[in-house]
Amino acid sequence: TQISDNWPGYSLDLFTYPQHYYGDLEYVLIPHGIIVDRTERLAKDIMQDIGDNDIVVLCVLKGGYKFCADLVEHIKNLSRNSERFISMKVDFVRLKSYHNDQSMQDMQIMGGDDLSKLTGKDIVGTGRTMKVLLNNIEKYKPKMIKVASLLVKRTSRPDGYRPDYYGFEIPDLFVVGYALDYNEYFRDLNHICVINDHGKAKYRV
Ligand code: IMP
Ligand code: MG
Repeated sequence: TQISDNWPGYSLDLFTYPQHYYGDLEYVLIPHGIIVDRTERLAKDIMQDIGDNDIVVLCVLKGGYKFCADLVEHIKNLSRNSERFISMKVDFVRLKSYHNDQSMQDMQIMGGDDLSKLTGKDIVGTGRTMKVLLNNIEKYKPKMIKVASLLVKRTSRPDGYRPDYYGFEIPDLFVVGYALDYNEYFRDLNHICVINDHGKAKYRV
């Protein structure tokens, strides 16, 4: 699950993607199909670990919505096929901390009335966002908290937070797609891609 720093990625010509992003991307880092297949395995691992406990899935919006939806779908399918009936509730919080491709100091948390147990997240970059969120969840004294993040970035920063489950460890690059955005753009791209300088300039705010 480690994508190395010199991994060249896949050529954009191998796949389809929205025409309005032609010229804005460098390459495909993780194709959509691989994301979905890996998420299925995370669902299986999570199922194994939670035993007979009921779960509350806390989806971190907006970037985590695709991963969370696919993860929940896989947990549902696995539990149906295994005759182990896990009751699931789903809740949402919204966090915002990025401006262009930079992590900002002030973090906003909105929503989430039932902050407990499992959280489904898009990406752990510096890990700052996750720490703030966990501090907030712990106030509710849940029986167990597990964090699942699709991506973990290899940042040079020492305070790197490690989720309990993650899909891929990626180089310290700014990535978009599969609900991950650059100033709200590229969420409508299926694959996880690396944005190029042209794309960055075009959507800079
Ligand atoms: P952190 O606080 O640096 O860990 O950043 C966490 C949040 O920033 C994530 O939940 C994402 O929404 C956003 N983020 C971090 N890195 C990226 C990236 O490469 N692409 C898009 N969003 C990112
Ligand atoms: Mg964002």
